[in-house]
Amino acid sequence: MTAIISFVSQKGGVGKTTSAINLATAFAFGGYSSLLVDLDPQSSIRFSMGVNNKAPVGTRELFLDPSVPIKELVQDTDHENMDFIFSNIETISHERSVFDIGNDSGFLQQRLENAKDDYDFIIIDSPASTNNMAVNAIYCSDLIILPLQCESLAIKSLKRFLVAFNELQRQLTSKNLRLAGILLTMYDRKFEVHRRVSQQIYKVLSDSVFETIIPRNEAIIEASALGKSVITYKLNSIGATAYIKLMNELVDKFSLR
Ligand SMILES: Nc1ncnc2c1ncn2[C@@H]1O[C@H](COP(=O)(O)OP(=O)(O)OP(=O)(O)O)[C@@H](O)[C@H]1O
Ligand SMILES: [Mg+2]
Repeated sequence: MTAIISFVSQKGGVGKTTSAINLATAFAFGGYSSLLVDLDPQSSIRFSMGVNNKAPVGTRELFLDPSVPIKELVQDTDHENMDFIFSNIETISHERSVFDIGNDSGFLQQRLENAKDDYDFIIIDSPASTNNMAVNAIYCSDLIILPLQCESLAIKSLKRFLVAFNELQRQLTSKNLRLAGILLTMYDRKFEVHRRVSQQIYKVLSDSVFETIIPRNEAIIEASALGKSVITYKLNSIGATAYIKLMNELVDKFSLR
């Protein structure tokens, strides 16, 4: 059965896009098929995967032209077992139109229904917000991952997110939406604040926090600059190892095999 997993966070720059790319790659590397969907108009996935040409079709048609089947929105890449739907929301007027459609929180859920037969995992990267796109991502998901940096302000944003998430979960009685976990990202044990905040988070929310921690890792930055995932760039780096460990933890914790 296909699992839809979304990376969401109201806070920007916490590692959503990096984690979405590397988890989708880790699944592909592990022999699963994955579809990576970019809901962020910044088109970060396309840039991070080194695709310089604008996407001829993508999220614009996903939302505005339901007559185009999902299969036709998928871009060819040289990644085995892995497909992409890139963001091609280029103008403010497109963004407004897509947002209007997105007022229907269940729109994406219906749209992705037909893609489910083709993939083991659908991974969604959403913008740093609780806007229509993020809510559409949450509605269509089975599992939500919340990336978090170990900084003092993070705890405040975490509390806000958990309140909003619980509210959505209560509304969505028709499905089994779960918080897969809080994912600590860009962790550097040399920083006292990282050690202190991570201890606090594990103490209060232990079950909801992934055991896997994504370390701050130069190879991740280098990979992104080269338009690759860190798994394809340097499989033996601590960054790649962490994302593969995250995949295994997810598969075990939620019996996703
Ligand atoms: N583990 C890591 N080690 C070092 N740098 C990282 C790591 N993870 C992410 N980064 C870098 O941090 C920056 C922000 O990451 P990313 O774009 O994934 O965050 P985001 O949450 O998607 O941001 P936005 O909210 O703008 O969409 C990027 O420059 C990325 O290369
Ligand atoms: Mg992003």
